[in-house]
Amino acid sequence: MRIPRLNKKQIDGMRRAGASAARTLHAACDLVAPGVTTQQIDDLVAAHTASEGGTCAQYLYEVDDQVFPAHVCTSVNEVVCHGIPGPRILRDGDIVNIDVTTNLDGWHGDTSRTVVVGKPTPEAAHVVQVASRALQVGIDAVRPGLRFNVIGEAIEAFVTSQGCTVVREFGGHGIGRRMHQAPHVHHHKMMLPQPVLEVGMCFTIEPMVCLGGRRIRMLDDGWTVITADGKLTAQAEHTVLVTADGAEILTRA
Ligand code: MF3
Ligand code: CO
Ligand code: CO
Repeated sequence: MRIPRLNKKQIDGMRRAGASAARTLHAACDLVAPGVTTQQIDDLVAAHTASEGGTCAQYLYEVDDQVFPAHVCTSVNEVVCHGIPGPRILRDGDIVNIDVTTNLDGWHGDTSRTVVVGKPTPEAAHVVQVASRALQVGIDAVRPGLRFNVIGEAIEAFVTSQGCTVVREFGGHGIGRRMHQAPHVHHHKMMLPQPVLEVGMCFTIEPMVCLGGRRIRMLDDGWTVITADGKLTAQAEHTVLVTADGAEILTRA
């Protein structure tokens, strides 16, 4: 459960991977419009990542004997995370989270955004904005010497103040040579002390925000996670590096 602290050269690798993932996510978000399928997003992410000289870390990724069959996660409306791209056509007013993880020269960049398709409903605009602001609130809480607890505390307090809830079953994660490594980064208040934030640590923050309750359900495909009440949910994710005075976002567009 050791959390690596990267040296200058390793940080350089993470900066490149993060920047590359951010460019791919930007291109994918640009494609979104009514009539576009989530499969088209997958095709674009596969091609764009290759053009960057990277690979899609999520493709054929395995968790508990389940193999993820696509290059990107596309999570529409009530889908919390890990939506599988396919023939689904995006409609005016839908929201879709696009989650890109790039492996570039052995280093990983992991980033996601939720975008509105066409004209947003007020509910859609709200949940998307709360998710994106919750991510920034979490990033702003990072400071070396404090514990990881401050991140979840800040996020949960903010999300609750906006009349939304935050999912607890999934969190951020350490990232580096592997897409997922220690520690688990909680997005809600934890009673037990979490590790201390130290300069050179890299991890993701990726709050999943729900308009209704925070309860979730997994579909039979073994990947797709949805809200139990079927209400809208949005997510935003950055890969960050702990610096002397806070956090550097490695996946800024
Ligand atoms: N990018 C996702 C994350 O933020 C990882 C999804 S794993 C997959 O951690 F297999 F579903 F792609
Ligand atoms: Co992640
Ligand atoms: Co991700």
